[in-house]
Amino acid sequence: MCGIVGYVGRQKAASIMLEGLKRLEYRGYDSAGLAVLQDGDVALLRTTGRVAGLAKLASGKKLTGTTGISHTRWATHGGVTEANAHPHRSSDGRILLVHNGVIENYAAIKKFLLTKGYTFTSETDTEVLANLIAYHYAKEPASAETSRFLEAVRKTLLHVEGTYGIAVLSPAHPDELVAARKGSPLILGVGDQENLIASDVSALISRTQNVVYLKDGELVHLTPSGFTLSTLDLADVHPVIDTVTWSVDEAELGDHAHFMLKEIFEQPVALENAMRGRFAADGSTANFGGLNLSPADFRQIDRFVFTSCGTGWHACLVAEHLIERYARIPVEVDYASEFRYRNAPLDRDALFFVISQSGETIDTLAALREAKRKGYKCMAICNVVGSTIAREADGGIYQHAGPEIGVASTKAFTSQLLIAAMFALYVARMRDLSFADGVQYVAGLKAVPGLARRALAQAPRIQEIATRYAKYNDFLFLGRLDLFPIALEGALKLKEISYIHAEGYPAAEMKHGPIALISDQCPSVFFVPKGELFNKVVSSMQEIKARKGPIIAIVPEGLELPDGLADEIIPIPDCHEAALPILATIPVQLLSYYIAVARGCDVDKPRNLAKSVTVE
Ligand code: G6P
Repeated sequence: MCGIVGYVGRQKAASIMLEGLKRLEYRGYDSAGLAVLQDGDVALLRTTGRVAGLAKLASGKKLTGTTGISHTRWATHGGVTEANAHPHRSSDGRILLVHNGVIENYAAIKKFLLTKGYTFTSETDTEVLANLIAYHYAKEPASAETSRFLEAVRKTLLHVEGTYGIAVLSPAHPDELVAARKGSPLILGVGDQENLIASDVSALISRTQNVVYLKDGELVHLTPSGFTLSTLDLADVHPVIDTVTWSVDEAELGDHAHFMLKEIFEQPVALENAMRGRFAADGSTANFGGLNLSPADFRQIDRFVFTSCGTGWHACLVAEHLIERYARIPVEVDYASEFRYRNAPLDRDALFFVISQSGETIDTLAALREAKRKGYKCMAICNVVGSTIAREADGGIYQHAGPEIGVASTKAFTSQLLIAAMFALYVARMRDLSFADGVQYVAGLKAVPGLARRALAQAPRIQEIATRYAKYNDFLFLGRLDLFPIALEGALKLKEISYIHAEGYPAAEMKHGPIALISDQCPSVFFVPKGELFNKVVSSMQEIKARKGPIIAIVPEGLELPDGLADEIIPIPDCHEAALPILATIPVQLLSYYIAVARGCDVDKPRNLAKSVTVE
């Protein structure tokens, strides 16, 4: 949802920022731009489209400046045009700014600025900010030269409603950057004779591992040799410098064709990392040091509420099934975007959970804040360490899946499923799950990374199936119980990267409407369960077959489907039933990926999407 990189130091800013922007492109790729201070002036480059286009534009220019700001955009206010691309410059030329977020009172501010003679060349809310800073800058006493720039930004932000992560520069202040955040992530990178600001650590790690996660309402003034942090009302902030553990290599594509494929194949390692150090010594349950709740606290809880957005919401649904099945504690699942406005009545002793890969999704963050406002304890399952949700939660579980860059979530999802399975075990063992069943459960989960490797070995066969099925424009994904959320996830994966219409349904619901879609032009992907529902799902498949619908069946090894029922069978390794959703996910990730590739789609940057949605 827009990526920002700013640099102030001794090296050429443009190339450093372009490298950072490439890593932030998952946040939006409608347009890109940069501004560099040099020779007492500004070099400003902007273009619609990708960062690669901006890099091409920059390669023809002599960009020697050592202070700069840059941006990759996911359009909110104003269409995808060069005029709307960031950085935006105030009409008096004194201020340049990049912004991630939405300024809600921009219309009133713009009206005011027009009366003061400021003019506008874009349709964005951001240009209003640049001009308002210029307005305050002009009013500041010129004698207070060092604080003038910072003060102008600070006074501006006191009048702004909405969300922002901003980085600002001024040609009159060649060795300075000012940045601030409210509602949109911003991280300070502390380097040697250089300091940086970015929306995400992945843009910083090639320069420094030392970072400060800015909090809402904080303002930072950066120079090559240092930085000062304060709040908008001028309270000093003591900076906490964290060390990032992600390496540059983890955020690189390497030999892979796409980040999505790389991340699909990283799943065995991500799953191992999710489990590392989290099983109790007796081998019958899990441990979660970060939840900050004792077993006695857990005994008081009579309901869990899980909320999330997108793929994370599917993980919540799996958590619901596993916790209810094994721990017999009721679970409610809500879309974060609905929960935040629904004013839902909650049980007195409910424990609230949010799931977010990025830890920055605005709806999920708002749901967490709403639950906290009501006095509930809130836990977070997050991948990005130090993210806003991780910091604001009362406790949580880090996924340790490593950076996920492909817009379509893959390894983060299966890692969330594994954590859900471990958490279900943890609470089940506090209730009625026996020691022996716990030991078996733990052994089942420990086997998952190895089984995931075997599931991935099906990739060539799935690619071959995908090539044949890429011609279809409608798909159904059908599963039952905890495989229903995987049907939803399979449909979401396919539609978001290949633009094929796909729907996920509980398999038995198919006959209550979606069956009208079935013809030889609408394939169904079935998730075949073990146990008592096997025959029911086979019946649903028969109903599809009778109407000439092609069938792809994902089937645990050892199960035999009636001859000729499925057109394609993708076997998955037999596993503990709590791990089945994880292993069932892998084939549909690969299927969606290879179908999208066969259709010539830009898998890592699907149209209209952004990985981290930090606006409503
Ligand atoms: C966006 C992405 C989805 C993701 C969702 C939630 O919509 O396109 O892939 O699942 O945000 O993201 P989060 O980082 O909160 O898990």
